[in-house]
Amino acid sequence: MSSEKRRNRHPKAEQNHTFQIEVDGKKIVARAGQTIAEAILDNGLKVFRRTRNGAPRSFYCGMGVCYECRMIVNGAPNVRTCMTPATPGCKVVSQDESLMKVEW
Ligand code: FES
Repeated sequence: MSSEKRRNRHPKAEQNHTFQIEVDGKKIVARAGQTIAEAILDNGLKVFRRTRNGAPRSFYCGMGVCYECRMIVNGAPNVRTCMTPATPGCKVVSQDESLMKVEW
């Protein structure tokens, strides 16, 4: 078996695969296996959403509990980006809750 074939079979090989995702209209690089939140933080972005009062919010727990990382992903609001894998070409938008109509 050639060394290249052996390298591609290694579990770490997939982590070297990169692709682009779009965050607020800006293309950023993500690695295979990363969550959207990890890709955003790796690219130096910090604000994930804004509250109804306009306060900026960011990633906090990283395990799906606090919901601070929720964003609009491919048109779906309130997606926890710390729990959602980045996929090639996905479109992510910061969630501005001052503009959202909330019904209780
Ligand atoms: S960072 Fe807490 S749910 Fe995502």
